[in-house]
Amino acid sequence: MPAITERAPAKVNLSLQVTGRRADGYHTLASLVVFPEFGDVVTVTPAESLTLTVEGEFAPQAGAGEANLALRAARLLQQAAGIEAGATLRLEKHIPVGAGLGGGSADAAAILRALNRLWGLDYSHETLAELALPLGADVPMCVHARPLFATGIGEQIALCDATDLREIFMVLVYPRVVLPTPDVFRGLQPGDIGPAADARHAMAAGNALERAAVAACPVVGEVLQAMKQTAPEPVLVRMSGSGASCFALFAQEAPAAAYEAAMRQAYPQWWVRRMRTQAMR
Ligand code: C5P
Repeated sequence: MPAITERAPAKVNLSLQVTGRRADGYHTLASLVVFPEFGDVVTVTPAESLTLTVEGEFAPQAGAGEANLALRAARLLQQAAGIEAGATLRLEKHIPVGAGLGGGSADAAAILRALNRLWGLDYSHETLAELALPLGADVPMCVHARPLFATGIGEQIALCDATDLREIFMVLVYPRVVLPTPDVFRGLQPGDIGPAADARHAMAAGNALERAAVAACPVVGEVLQAMKQTAPEPVLVRMSGSGASCFALFAQEAPAAAYEAAMRQAYPQWWVRRMRTQAMR
């Protein structure tokens, strides 16, 4: 059986509203999520036991040990399917770690899809997504890796209709500062929590975690301000997930390319990257 490769696209929250807090401490959300043409790559090959190697720009931060979500995903699927086969897992890590781009979740989800094929399990994406929730609230949406509207703690997923979507261009900026998700949720104040807009008006909703992220990590505020002041003017500048990365949206590729060049020149210490993605019409 040859190697099986799966792309693990980054997850970007075009909008994120916090609608409440559950008794177990998790927050309920309403979020419009897209998966740009950029991400990590996982490759799986048959083997007797499960092992993981990690390469690429952000490999040192991701780690290859038992704490890596990709390895935990593989063990979870092995147990759920009741099989003894192993696999050699290879991960090319391009998504910044601790950036609000769901990197670890994307890898775990891609491993589930890849092993589902390698081991001939034939589970649906819905089944894999259900199985994936104990790995983290973002893993189920990364199993689908298509534009979607997520509610609950992120596990209630409505895939967007293709006719509601258009292609746009995104410039992602990551200030190379790791911002732990629990720190941001802990900093939420009552004013950050409120009822959700419906999916159709979600783009206008903003990211309710932005205030708490800026408070926990002031460089996020600097990134947002710098991105809003850089020409050519983007359609929208916003933080993704719990930060620290932020994105700018453009309807056309040429201004996105000019903006990417301007940001790189002005802020060489930050990670800046242009990519194609989808958004609501
Ligand atoms: O599920 P995950 O491990 O990604 O979540 C990390 C932390 O982020 C949780 O322990 C929780 O503090 C916070 N979180 C939350 N509500 C969510 C997702 C994450 O409060 N919907």
